[in-house]
Amino acid sequence: MICLGIEGTAEKTGVGVVDSDGNILSLVGKQLFPEKGGIHPREAAEHHAKWIPKLISDACDEAKLGLDEIDLVSFSKGPGLGPGLRTTATAARSLSLSINKPIIGVNHCIGHIEIGKLDTSANDPVSLYVSGGNSQIIAYEYGRYRVFGETLDIAIGNALDQFGRETGLGHPGGPVVEKLAKNGSYIDLPYTVKGMDLSFSGLMSAAIRKYKEGIDIEDICYSFQETAFSMLVEVTERALSHTKKDEVLLCGGVAANKRLREMLDGMAEDHFAKFYMPKMEYCGDNGAMIAWLGILMNNSYGPDKIDETRVIQRFRTDEVDATWVKQSKS
Ligand code: ATP
Ligand code: FE2
Repeated sequence: MICLGIEGTAEKTGVGVVDSDGNILSLVGKQLFPEKGGIHPREAAEHHAKWIPKLISDACDEAKLGLDEIDLVSFSKGPGLGPGLRTTATAARSLSLSINKPIIGVNHCIGHIEIGKLDTSANDPVSLYVSGGNSQIIAYEYGRYRVFGETLDIAIGNALDQFGRETGLGHPGGPVVEKLAKNGSYIDLPYTVKGMDLSFSGLMSAAIRKYKEGIDIEDICYSFQETAFSMLVEVTERALSHTKKDEVLLCGGVAANKRLREMLDGMAEDHFAKFYMPKMEYCGDNGAMIAWLGILMNNSYGPDKIDETRVIQRFRTDEVDATWVKQSKS
């Protein structure tokens, strides 16, 4: 079985082709870089509409396959920005109908975890999924991927990006903050963990305020990272201890950050757990994760009916019966 997956939840669209043995046959993508400000949902959708047809044909070329050799079409059903999701779903439906092959819509967050497991030898990890739109601590328990903790407001990547824009460091903020943080020293910033959940908006506003007060930008960047990452590591640690699992998986675009990796790896080691991270090309949004999850779900309970392929903007990770997980372990 060969599946072509289309991703389009945010500003990046991507197409990947994966076979049922988990071989990634191709992976292509195109990112929208806004001229100024953040991502406008409609512009993201226009970007996806412009690029998806070419990306489908590029992905087939790279996999050395014709469209007639695709057995299944999968797409990211949510969570994400409405217009982009609808454009992605429309592209997937058109492809499925035109090549007369089944279609399946998948949860984007679970896609990140499954590609992470595929690309590493992690089997049953506690996952920290951190990106521009999401910050969740997830682990499989009793038939579903359960969210053990998450942000109550903005995602960590979004906090870094907004900070970058407000302080003239540019977009995306994450990589620049990481660079500047190398020479900084610690200043006090708000640390907000509420139960198992996190909040980054107060931290971001305080960091912007410090910048406006003239505090050294390197110190702010260092302290922003140390505070935000400690919050994320604390909740991951508690989920690890609660579930008694022995693997930690880091995924999402913020996984590019070496300091976050180091902190999470250190925590895992303290708990005699193994730390895993997929290759960077599979950490950020990509079509291969959508294709691979399409295969797993299709093997487990078959494709969707075409009239059941509506998108779900606030698609929760724990809404999905992850029946394939048991199967893959047996
Ligand atoms: P999602 O749809 O899953 O929310 P996304 O659209 O945010 O994904 P990703 O590629 O997963 O896309 O993540 C992008 C985010 O990663 C941006 O917020 C960016 O600032 C952040 N990022 C990238 N590199 C680094 C880094 N070195 N340190 C911290 N953050 C980083
Ligand atoms: Fe993502």
